[in-house]
Amino acid sequence: MEHSPTLAIHQRVTERREQEGGVVHFGFGESPFPAPPVVVAELRKHAGDSRYLPSQGLPALRESAAAYVARRFGHDADPDRIVVGPGSKELIFDCLFALDGDLILPSPSWVSYGPQGKLLGKRVIRVRADPEGGYRLNADALDVACRKSRTKQKITILNSPCNPTGAVYSRQELREIARIARRHNVIVLSDEIYVEITFGRERYVSIAKLCPERTIVTTGMSKGFCAGGHRLGILLAPGTMADLVAQLTCIASETFSCVSAPVQHAAVAAFRRDRAVRDHVRDTVAIHKMASEYLWRGVTEMGLRCPRPEGAFYLFPDFSAFASDLRRAGVRADADLCADLLDKQGVALLPGRAFGVPSRQLAVRLATVDYDGGAVLRAYRKERWRTTFRKGEFVAKHCPNLPEGLRRMEEYLDSLP
Ligand SMILES: Cc1ncc(COP(=O)(O)O)c(C=O)c1O
Repeated sequence: MEHSPTLAIHQRVTERREQEGGVVHFGFGESPFPAPPVVVAELRKHAGDSRYLPSQGLPALRESAAAYVARRFGHDADPDRIVVGPGSKELIFDCLFALDGDLILPSPSWVSYGPQGKLLGKRVIRVRADPEGGYRLNADALDVACRKSRTKQKITILNSPCNPTGAVYSRQELREIARIARRHNVIVLSDEIYVEITFGRERYVSIAKLCPERTIVTTGMSKGFCAGGHRLGILLAPGTMADLVAQLTCIASETFSCVSAPVQHAAVAAFRRDRAVRDHVRDTVAIHKMASEYLWRGVTEMGLRCPRPEGAFYLFPDFSAFASDLRRAGVRADADLCADLLDKQGVALLPGRAFGVPSRQLAVRLATVDYDGGAVLRAYRKERWRTTFRKGEFVAKHCPNLPEGLRRMEEYLDSLP
């Protein structure tokens, strides 16, 4: 096992920034914004709460989370079917631990799913998703993968909006995946950690709405509520899987015991989603959208192939159009490309290989959040009313690393033999 590639690049860039500065950090995806003030106020208020809480989670939080899930996304939710954990990452791991069956993963998909499956000794079956289809998991390809599996039950992880591509699945795509899941006894782990951050044209739909009996949903505080470091995730199990809640609670009780009490109290306020929280999320999502579209336009104009993102804060461009120029420069794989861009231009990106894509495709993941979120949020609230407000100009002025990163990438391409 290696250190998680996202955390590893973050560490490298942080060290390099401390030594010499000047790195454009497109390598690490965390919300750049402060948590909503009401969440911080609740955290402060409960700082003295030093007792252990129930392993399944604070009852008031499970209620608030169930109401949030039901109201916001139309899932059928019940507080008894919610489990609280230290981040949705841990809950996904615990769930994979509790469930039998091969793990079927789209490529690309988030860096940690594969290693989690490997840690648990699961057979991981990869399903190639292609750039023409926006790298979405295709139902027919899932069908083929299911036929390769030898286990009675299978598990797949669906991530919408998706890290690394920013893709959001449509109702029709989800309906087809649900049909295959039923046919082959597939449990769908729906990782909806970016659910608050959608900006496509279609209304967001969760697969839990279309396939409620076999979908487990995870989400949390890290992305939309801008509090990754609080380490709080929630899992909603379907009514048909009461055992799973008991098993996850048991795993919690034998491992992390419970999430820290002040953080759970603060999360009650986030999931209550009152006016101030809604406004906070709305404004931060508007900025994510501007930054993503600005960078998408930039990489596309540079000649990179890149599906247009509809959520989260990532792009997944590939340099295949420059493959022969890169080869002449001695760059054959995505990892060489990322190393070269970091060494020569000070631009940090993650190789597509970390997401399960073949290295020769020269795909990279670009995180769109290298700016001072607090300052940008304040500027946005002040300036958005002006008749002269222009999204591109706003991004260029307040998020200077984004145009700078594009400029350096272009300079790199121009320098190729
Ligand atoms: C797709 C995806 N799922 C899950 C997580 C983990 O989120 P959490 O902070 O809730 O553990 C991340 C974090 O980067 C992610 O990108």
